[in-house]
Amino acid sequence: MPLETTKNIWHNGRMIAWEDAQIHVMSHVVHYGSSVFEGLRCYARPNGAGIFRLPEHMQRLLDSAKIYRMPVGYSLEELCAAAVELVEANGVAPCYIRPIAFRGYGEIGVNPLKAPVEVYIANFPWGKYIPGNAGADVCVSSWNRLAPNTMPSLAKAGANYMNSQLIRMEAEINGYDEGIALDVNGYLSEGSGENLFLVRGGILYTTPMANSVLNGITRTSVLTIARDLDIPVVEQALPREMLYICDEAFFSGTAAEVTHLHSVDRVLVADGTMGPITSAIRAEFFAIVNGTKPDRYGWLTPVKVPAAEPVGV
Ligand SMILES: Cc1ncc(COP(=O)(O)O)c(C=O)c1O
Repeated sequence: MPLETTKNIWHNGRMIAWEDAQIHVMSHVVHYGSSVFEGLRCYARPNGAGIFRLPEHMQRLLDSAKIYRMPVGYSLEELCAAAVELVEANGVAPCYIRPIAFRGYGEIGVNPLKAPVEVYIANFPWGKYIPGNAGADVCVSSWNRLAPNTMPSLAKAGANYMNSQLIRMEAEINGYDEGIALDVNGYLSEGSGENLFLVRGGILYTTPMANSVLNGITRTSVLTIARDLDIPVVEQALPREMLYICDEAFFSGTAAEVTHLHSVDRVLVADGTMGPITSAIRAEFFAIVNGTKPDRYGWLTPVKVPAAEPVGV
């Protein structure tokens, strides 16, 4: 989808103009994929805009950087403050926020350790990732997710998204909204940019971290909401065929939020409509982020931007 621009981008501690946020073609990241990044949503609420789970996202950025031995140079508190400052400076809410740290210009060769680290944060308007409310038609991808001890899936690294691109391109070219990848052992892993949940017999299942998933922040939010709603939750390795016999299935993610699956490989998930457990979790999620229910978990960091219409429901 086309990128909508805003006025400012945060770069290494100061605001610069959107069009000045440029890098050299010989930067390490361009050649070797050496970036880690985050994606957050800032929601509009009647009582003011709020960034969803800001510290958790910035902590994951720092964790991803640590895995790749990349010194970010900013603390958790500084990164959170920078995101708030940027959203307020640009005055756009609801919006999507994209912090990124990468290896910049000055060194050539695979070893990144001497290449400088650049940190940027941008924000821009972004609506629904999977269009419509009819649910997503997905396929099981012919591509596997990252094998253990190859590319660390707990790091949200730019390079991991070459695998995601293969999954997503194949799905869209074949007429699906999204693809679900199996892990290297043939167990369910996740979508190209979403975690996966299934319901069978009143139990909510999701794939654990050992099946090559990103530890999604929406995923942990869904698990918290489910436990609060007294829905039994099981994190375990799941065989592919659970997709075809489950009662409900949905994706979770910052971009996809909570999106139910209508079909998998053209097999309807139950009757294709959103099931009761998905509906209950989704309703609770949107009530909290859109401010129609109190933020009882403290998930939203307030930002001073005039509130526009809530999105996503
Ligand atoms: C591969 C992958 N899995 C899962 C997710 C969901 O994670 P989160 O809920 O933190 O956005 C994302 C989105 O960032 C992703 O790219």
